[in-house]
Amino acid sequence: MREWKRSCYCGEIRLEHAGRRVTLAGWVDKRRDLGGLIFVHLRDREGIVQVVFNPERFAAAHGVAEAMRSEYVVALRGEVRRRPEGTVNPEMPTGEMEVLAEEATILSEAKTPVFPIEDETAVAEELRLSFRYLDLRRAPLQRNLRLRHRFYQATRGYLDRQGFVEVETPVLTRSTPEGARDYLVPSRVNPGQFFALPQSPQLFKQLLMVAGFDRYFQIVKCFRDEDLRADRQPEFTQIDIEMSFVDVDDVLETMEGLVVELFREVRGIEIARPFPRLTFDDAIRRFGLDAPDLRFGLELEDVGDLLAGCGFRAFAQALAAGGRALALNAKGQGGMTRSQLDQLEAFAKGYGAKGLAWFKLGPDGMQSPIAKFLSAGLLQRFRERMRGEEGDLLLLSVDRPKAAGDAMGRLRLRFGNELKLLEPKALAITWVTDFPLLEWDERERRWSAMHHPFTSPRDEDLPLFASDPGKIRAKAYDLVINGAEVGGGSIRIHRREVQNQMFQALGIGPEEAKAKFGFLLDALEFGTPPHGGIAFGLDRLVMILTGAESIRDVVAFPKTQRAQDLMTKAPSPVDPAQLQELHIKLDLA
Ligand code: AMO
Repeated sequence: MREWKRSCYCGEIRLEHAGRRVTLAGWVDKRRDLGGLIFVHLRDREGIVQVVFNPERFAAAHGVAEAMRSEYVVALRGEVRRRPEGTVNPEMPTGEMEVLAEEATILSEAKTPVFPIEDETAVAEELRLSFRYLDLRRAPLQRNLRLRHRFYQATRGYLDRQGFVEVETPVLTRSTPEGARDYLVPSRVNPGQFFALPQSPQLFKQLLMVAGFDRYFQIVKCFRDEDLRADRQPEFTQIDIEMSFVDVDDVLETMEGLVVELFREVRGIEIARPFPRLTFDDAIRRFGLDAPDLRFGLELEDVGDLLAGCGFRAFAQALAAGGRALALNAKGQGGMTRSQLDQLEAFAKGYGAKGLAWFKLGPDGMQSPIAKFLSAGLLQRFRERMRGEEGDLLLLSVDRPKAAGDAMGRLRLRFGNELKLLEPKALAITWVTDFPLLEWDERERRWSAMHHPFTSPRDEDLPLFASDPGKIRAKAYDLVINGAEVGGGSIRIHRREVQNQMFQALGIGPEEAKAKFGFLLDALEFGTPPHGGIAFGLDRLVMILTGAESIRDVVAFPKTQRAQDLMTKAPSPVDPAQLQELHIKLDLA
C-alpha cells in the first residue's frame, strides 16, 4: 500500500486543491462510461469526488477504470482541477472540482451490492441489518455514528473538567434492581450458577461512593431483556453518574451543564438554563404522562373537583376510589363522525381506559351520550373550564389515575400530531421531579419501587411509610426531551434504618434483602456519604441530536425488535458439548 499512500480524503477536495496532485483511495460509488471518457464517483468517509479517466492522455489508468464496478475498492493518483464551465455540481460539496486520473489500481473487487448505497433508501430494514456493513457505508449512518463519537468526547471532556473519575464496573455480575428481566450467563466453573449482565451499574456506583471516589462516571453498556420499541434496545449505552455529598439541586445543576455543553459542542444549539421543572403530579394532571412532550400546548384539565359526587354513578364511584378525571379540548374537532369517535375510544381503551366520554359542542349546544346523566349546571361549568367553543370536541376519561393519564396523554399526542401542533425542529426540555416512591402492583397486590429500592424518600414524607405509602414522594428525577425520557436518577438512601423501612414497604424480608443486596447493605454500615446520581440514555440523546426516528439508526450493530442480530445471526443454538460443559439441559417442549 505504501506506493498508494493516501494524501487526502475524497470528500475534502475543494477549490484550493486546484493544480495539486493527490492520491485517493475509496469505493466506487458510481461509474459512467461515455465511450471515451470514464467518470467515477469515488467515495470515502468524508464524501464523494468525481474522477475523470481520459483514454488519450492516460491510457493505462483508463484501462483500469474500464474494469471498475460499483463498490470496488480502488486507489488512484491524479491532478485536481476545476470542472469545466457548466459541469459544476452544486449538490456535492466537492462539486466544483474533479481529479484527472493519471494512475489507478484496483485494491479489491466487490460483488454487486445487495442494495444500492444511497442516502435515501426504501430498502427493507431487515435486508439492511443483514448486511449492516453495507448499510453503514450510507452517508446518514456515517454521520450519525460520527456525531455519536463527538458526543462521547464532549461527555468525557465536560465530566473530566468537573472532577468526575471514569471507572469501569463488571459486566459479569449479579442481578441489579432496575426491574426488567436479566440476561443470564452460565458459569462453567460454578455448576448451576449464573452471572447476570448488568441492567445498570447502580450498585457498583453506589459502592464507589462508599469507597470515597466522590464523583464517578462511566459510558457503559447496559442489558435489559424487555419488550422492544423504537427507542429501546436490549443492549444500550448509559452515561452513568454518581456524586457524593449532594442533594437534588446539585445533581440537576451539574447535569444541566453537561446537557448544555453536549448540545452546543455537537450541534451548535444553545439551551437556556435553568431547565424548567415539573413535578410528577403536575406532569400527569397537565399532560397525562410522566414524560410529557412540551413542544405544544393542548394541555389536559383535571376536572375531578367538578365531577366528584356527580349524578353519574360510574364517574362518582371511580373518583371516590381514588380515580382521576382528565379532559382534553380537541379544538375544532366537533364535526367528528360516530365511527371516528369510536376509533378514539378504542385508542383510549388500548391504553387501559375503560371508556372515553365525548362532548360535541354544536350550534344547538352540547351533544353527548352521557349528557343526560349530568346536570345542566355541571355541563356548563365543565364547558367553561375547558374553554369550549362551538365546533370543539371535549374528551374525558374518569378512571384509575394511570389509565386516565395514559389514555388522555396519548390522545393529546395524537391530536398534537394530527392537528400539526408539533414543530418538528423545536426542542422542549424539562426535568420531571418528585416521582412517587412506590407504585401499586395490581397483579402481585403489593408495592414496588417506582425507580429502584435505593431511592430516597423526601425527608418530610418519611412518616407516610406508616400511614399512606402511596403518597411518599421520592427524591427522584427524570430528564425529558420532546416527550422522551432521556435520563433518570435519584438521591439514594444512605441510612440503614430508612433502607429497612423501604424494604419493609416492598415486602422484602431481611433474608431476601441480604441474599440480593447484602454487599450493598453491609457497605452502608461502613461510613456512607449522602449520595445520588443519574443515568442518561446515550442512544436516546444521540437520536434527538441526529433527528433519527429509530434507535437502530444511531447504533452501529443494533438488534431487531425481536432482539436478534440479523447479521451475525445471534442468538443462535450452541454445540451440545458446550451446553454439557455448562451443566445445562434444554427443555424446549
Ligand atoms: P433508568 O432505568 O431510568 O435508570 O435508565 C436510565 C436511562 O437509560 C435509558 N434506557 C434505555 N435506552 C435504550 N434502551 C433501553 N432498553 C433503555 N432502558 C433505559 C433511558 C433512561 O432514562 N440506575 C438508574 C439510574 C440512576 O438511578 O442513577 C437507571 O438505570 O433514557
